[in-house]
Amino acid sequence: MKTSPNVVRHNAAVTRPRRETLNGHKSVNLWFTGLSGSGKSTLAHAVEERLHLQGKRTYVFDGDNVRHGLCGDLGFSMEDRRENLRRIAEMTRLFLDSGVISLTAFISPLIEDRARIREIIGPDDFIEVYCNCSLEICEQRDVKGLYKKAREGEIKNYTGISSPYEPPVNPDIELDSGTQPLMECVNIVVDALRARGIIF
Ligand code: ADX
Repeated sequence: MKTSPNVVRHNAAVTRPRRETLNGHKSVNLWFTGLSGSGKSTLAHAVEERLHLQGKRTYVFDGDNVRHGLCGDLGFSMEDRRENLRRIAEMTRLFLDSGVISLTAFISPLIEDRARIREIIGPDDFIEVYCNCSLEICEQRDVKGLYKKAREGEIKNYTGISSPYEPPVNPDIELDSGTQPLMECVNIVVDALRARGIIF
């Protein structure tokens, strides 16, 4: 990890455990990975809605939003994707400290990059959720019309078409997000949080 010169950490008196006690639940990161159109953002927002209604503190980050601001200077080369994900992972670490359950929806196509993310966030606080949806279904959905553009060569390095996606080998949670109803997927994720003692 890189650190600026001449900086020393200031330790806060209001700590993560104190915030978690105040919130009545633990903080954690749910990292949704999958192809564009596999339902990552939809699912992250649906899980957030359920948790919010239960009084949990949550926040969703997704690629389409952070790429308008924090990561707006980055494209889709493997190097830029790595930097995109590094920034999000570092931000997620801060959110863990703040006591929030963060839900991050990024294609995050490479196993190696996701391993780095897990390391930055910390393996105990990182729950990898694989939104397993076939390229055929994602392409049929083509909500943003980007697959069509990628097929026509108008967009380069498009994940699944002209850029790789490496499925997780051993994800913490795997959802069949192409065919399984959304609410069933939400139940699986929320049940997993309960089973891990994150929420009660
Ligand atoms: S990641 O690879 O760095 O994790 P991220 O999740 O932030 O990607 O952004 C993906 C979103 O950017 C897609 O949902 C899609 O709307 C848009 N996008 C634009 N160009 C590309 C591309 N070349 N490959 C994949 N997604 C792209």
